[in-house]
Amino acid sequence: MSRIVYVNGRYVPEEQAVISVFDRGFLMADAVYEVTAVLDGRLVDFAGHMARLHRSLGELDMGIPVNDAELEAIHRELMARNALREGGIYLQVTRGAADRDFVFPDDAVPGLVLFTQAREIAASPLAERGMKVISIPDIRWGRRDIKTVQLLAPSLGKMQAKRAGKDDAWLVEDGMVTEGTSNNAHIVTRDGTLVTRGLSNAILHGITRASVLAFARETGTRVEERAFSVAEAQQAAEAFITSASAFVMPVVEIDGVPVGDGVPGPVAKRLRAIYIEESLKQAV
Ligand code: PDD
Repeated sequence: MSRIVYVNGRYVPEEQAVISVFDRGFLMADAVYEVTAVLDGRLVDFAGHMARLHRSLGELDMGIPVNDAELEAIHRELMARNALREGGIYLQVTRGAADRDFVFPDDAVPGLVLFTQAREIAASPLAERGMKVISIPDIRWGRRDIKTVQLLAPSLGKMQAKRAGKDDAWLVEDGMVTEGTSNNAHIVTRDGTLVTRGLSNAILHGITRASVLAFARETGTRVEERAFSVAEAQQAAEAFITSASAFVMPVVEIDGVPVGDGVPGPVAKRLRAIYIEESLKQAV
């Protein structure tokens, strides 16, 4: 069955969902995106995703053709038309179509595309067994805080992990882990402190990260926002990642070295359970 996709004001079957070859998102990755999780037919951390979208747009001086109320209505209409109960909604804003030129066009009309992806997130076999990751150099550009569609480096990283028989890759710069290819990286030290890299241009400011850190603090876990190395992560009690598509996902092996007991740890399991429970309560 074909999905219904939103393209520039229209809801169309996916086979008819097309944009111009001159679109700058296609030619220059001149586009930003968001992925909002859907649980129980509702939107998880929606306000956070919309706030980050506006931040990304602002950093790139890019417009958006609809207002926030319309954006939310489009999300709801897509959930309804595709009977989406669980999974995600992908949203992309592009600067629009114009003859190829590095300089921003004066007259381009921003484009907007959204589509649904049905997927089980809450009940995940990977969360039961935990992820195995490799570490690789972070070869991305310097503004990772802007959620652009320049995803070739993460894509290559995930392919390298897949070829090595692993689940994902952690990215390393100047000896320190920045984040995962499409998620934020966290560890739990042997004294129970949650350590995660602080916010800067080096990482995406994860919406799931922010919620999970708040839940951790509320439930009495000490949180330290600082960089950590692969060696420190390998010696940690636990490791995990966060993202809208994985929520909280334990990491049980880094570069062939088991983390802790080599099975999902209690802090990651608890934070995953809290995140899902609270998301079900707070989703809109
Ligand atoms: N990725 N870091 C990177 C590089 C990411 O691409 C993502 C999200 C995150 C986590 O952010 P959030 O918690 O707001 O989802 C961190 C999305 C899910 C994706 O590209 O599919």
